[in-house]
Amino acid sequence: MSHDDFPTERPAVVTCGLPYATGDLHIGHMRTYVSGDAYVRALETLGQETALVSGTDMHGTPVAVNAEKEGVDPEEYALELHEKYAETFPEFDVEFDNYSHTHDDANVELTREFVRSWIDNDHVFEKEIQVAWDPETDQPLPDRYVEGTCPYCGEKARGDECDEGCQRHLEPGEIEDPTSTLTGNPAEYRTREHEFLRLSDFQEYLQGFIDRLEGTDNARNQPREWIEGELQDLCITRDMDWGIDYPGEGEEDLVLYVWVDAPIEYVASTKQYSERVGDDVFDWEAAWKAGAPDAGAPDEADPETWADADTGEIIHVIGRDIIQHHTVFWPAMLRGAGYNEPRAVLASGFVNLDGKAFSTSRNRAVWADDYLDEGFAPDLVRYYLTTTGGFQHDVDFSWEKFQERVNGELVGTLGNFAYRSLLFAARNYGGAPDAETSEEVSERIADAVADFEAAINDYSLKTAGEAAVALAGFGNEYIQRNEPWNLTDDEPDRAEQVIYDCVQIAKAVAVLSAPILPGKAQQLWEQLGEDGAVDDATLDACLESPPGEFGEPNELFEKIEDERVDELNRKLEERIDAATADDGAADDADAEGDDPEAVDLEPVADERVGFEEFKDLDVRVGRIEAAEGIEGADDLARLEVDIGVETRQIVAGIKQLHDLDDLPGTKVVVVANLEKAELFGVESDGMVLAAGEDADLLTTHEDSEPGTKVR
Ligand code: 2FM
Ligand code: ZN
Repeated sequence: MSHDDFPTERPAVVTCGLPYATGDLHIGHMRTYVSGDAYVRALETLGQETALVSGTDMHGTPVAVNAEKEGVDPEEYALELHEKYAETFPEFDVEFDNYSHTHDDANVELTREFVRSWIDNDHVFEKEIQVAWDPETDQPLPDRYVEGTCPYCGEKARGDECDEGCQRHLEPGEIEDPTSTLTGNPAEYRTREHEFLRLSDFQEYLQGFIDRLEGTDNARNQPREWIEGELQDLCITRDMDWGIDYPGEGEEDLVLYVWVDAPIEYVASTKQYSERVGDDVFDWEAAWKAGAPDAGAPDEADPETWADADTGEIIHVIGRDIIQHHTVFWPAMLRGAGYNEPRAVLASGFVNLDGKAFSTSRNRAVWADDYLDEGFAPDLVRYYLTTTGGFQHDVDFSWEKFQERVNGELVGTLGNFAYRSLLFAARNYGGAPDAETSEEVSERIADAVADFEAAINDYSLKTAGEAAVALAGFGNEYIQRNEPWNLTDDEPDRAEQVIYDCVQIAKAVAVLSAPILPGKAQQLWEQLGEDGAVDDATLDACLESPPGEFGEPNELFEKIEDERVDELNRKLEERIDAATADDGAADDADAEGDDPEAVDLEPVADERVGFEEFKDLDVRVGRIEAAEGIEGADDLARLEVDIGVETRQIVAGIKQLHDLDDLPGTKVVVVANLEKAELFGVESDGMVLAAGEDADLLTTHEDSEPGTKVR
């Protein structure tokens, strides 16, 4: 089944992954939130009915561990952070229709209903398992209370996730060489009885689901291996006090695993929104339940029936570390309780700071508050985070790169076009002159609208943002080419025509840029003399006449000077130095993953190679002509690479790390005389060079043609 293009007749819910209440937010965290917000705004511009929801993730060991460190009660600790998050998001113009938290009554009640429904439908069973135990404190060690070695990839891992290695979810008892994070003691394993959701009941269903799923490629590719292999059942209870009590019989001392109640908050939050605004404004059941097949017994799950269901549009925007939770556990949880499945999962790469991971403990971060305190508009970082690189790729932030994007595209292209056009119009005509949009400009705007619409249907905010900026770029070229300032005396009608066109382009730029730049687009909208909110405008407005009168505009964006960048870098370095000087900081690994690259770089190999040996390698510039995933292989892609003298077929382990559709046209560096190899039955004739675990593809930065030797 393929889904209808947006806008559809059905309500859409866009959710952002719930932030754990574990500490302050930095701009790396903001990537998925501004993307979720921008995506909803864009869908609304297309005319889609939507709700944007999320909430704070209050339970689980990430929160309990941090609260314990601070010596406070987890509820008090989490609520304080929840309030802080609820204030911070709107400061970045992330406007949730409902932002709640997982510990409120609505979520507690709904979570229990979900679990009861799984129990009633026979998807839950009890099993004795080995759980990690601290012999000194004589207590169980769920999830982040235990560390050890991942049984799948051998990397250091936390009790419930291989956060530094293969990113897999780990079940209780799976981690090897367990150590208590409370005392540093080796942990023992003890037998305990726990409750499990039988994921194997949903295997056939999930196989159909993953084929229907839209969004980023990584969200479809990464889970295939799990869905097609033997699905491990999910332990849904934990030996803890902090959490939602298990609602079944006889297990009063267990709480639900945080990954049970956290995604259910997506539904609870939507329900709260409907209850606040009324079902006639947004009907949560139409989005989450209408059209879903009955939960029923496992053998009644018929993927065919589901494929034809007229369901709501559920879109999850998350970080790439929680793909498995959203594409395996969550659809099974929804299916088992009779709810709709997600239409799309958009899994973003991480944000790095100057090439390395953000590090909370080392204060190596651009904190959300600090960014705003510097007086930067939220739109600037929204633009940077949504349009730098493909969504599923990691993005590097540095003040220099930020400056480059702001000064280049926002100041130089968009701001420059809007200011010069509106200023000319206001000074010479008191607003839009009396004319009609020319055919050339109408067509160009229509093309930009079509590009924007296609980008949103393709879940690409980057392309949508490019459509707006490219239209402004066209505006600059158009005004320059037509030189209205030389026409006003001799060809006044022609001058009026050109300026009217420019005002029309500016109006379209306001509409198309509003999802990503809501504040600046509103400013432009008002400068154009438009009433109301640009947010309420739909794509039709791009070609509707602008008002006739407006005054002189202000510049929308301010250039970031080099001295400012130096000062920002200095402040950042001072903060890092201060944190490093603090003895405890380096040991104090933060909750969302520390900075492995800072400490774990491999030493340079001892053995030297001679220049003659190096010369034996024939390394060439190549250009990717085609890229496709190799069926059945998790990581491998088949590339066709033009290396000047010929086109080579090369197999590369980049399938989940790059958006393959974006690769054609990319220049790469190829080892051309490597021995041929066969991988998954496909011959590989050469090797494409890439850096690090994210397979950052090496490229050239000037005009070297394919075939050029690399020395
Ligand atoms: O990984 C995390 O940060 C979790 N708090 C995300 C939860 S998202 C949702 F599914 F619950
Ligand atoms: Zn692993």
